Amino acid sequence: MLQFVQMYTNNIAIYPGTFDPITLGHIDLLQRASDLFDKIVVAVADNQQKNPLFSLEQRIELASQSLNHIDNIEIKGFAGLLTVFAQQQQAKVILRGLRAVSDFEYEFQMAWMNRRMKRDIETVFLTSNADYAYISSSMVKEIAALGADVSDSVPLPVQQALLKKLAD
Ligand code: COA
Repeated sequence: MLQFVQMYTNNIAIYPGTFDPITLGHIDLLQRASDLFDKIVVAVADNQQKNPLFSLEQRIELASQSLNHIDNIEIKGFAGLLTVFAQQQQAKVILRGLRAVSDFEYEFQMAWMNRRMKRDIETVFLTSNADYAYISSSMVKEIAALGADVSDSVPLPVQQALLKKLAD
């Protein structure tokens, strides 16, 4: 009985990404996943190699503002190996979204690598909602920079932050 209780009260997943910036696709996935886990840690990767538009602090802040309607979510920044951070957070699951077949090879490779490093952490995939299957953070930044409306791809705080950033 105790084991049963522990199993179902320690159901923590980690959802990693660069989130430069967070999109409606990420939010939809988190909304659905929030019913499946006790807690989800949104792990915002420092990821300087991706040369992010927003600083780590700004990406965390935008994610926090955009996810404050979901109770069982925490947003944290991290640098270094995801598996190490996942273990520090006591997460047993790495949660990833699959948008299209093209995501599969990269995701499969990453899941395989992470599993080699930490055998007791499993990667779980959720498929994207069809409405958001073609959104990517890079595309949002590109079209916003060219003056297009991105309100169907990102939440309001991100729209405002993009306008401000692009006006600077
Ligand atoms: N809806 C909309 N867009 C989505 C999405 C969804 N559900 N899921 C992913 N995306 C988009 C992202 O916006 C991102 O777009 P971009 O490339 O235009 O910025 C793109 O898909 C790729 O996202 P993701 O797969 O999350 O990659 P990432 O670069 O943001 O994050 C890490 C990769 C951070 C998870 C990975 O590099 C990592 O774990 N780093 C830590 C170091 C480490 O442990 N490395 C070893 C890994 S094996």
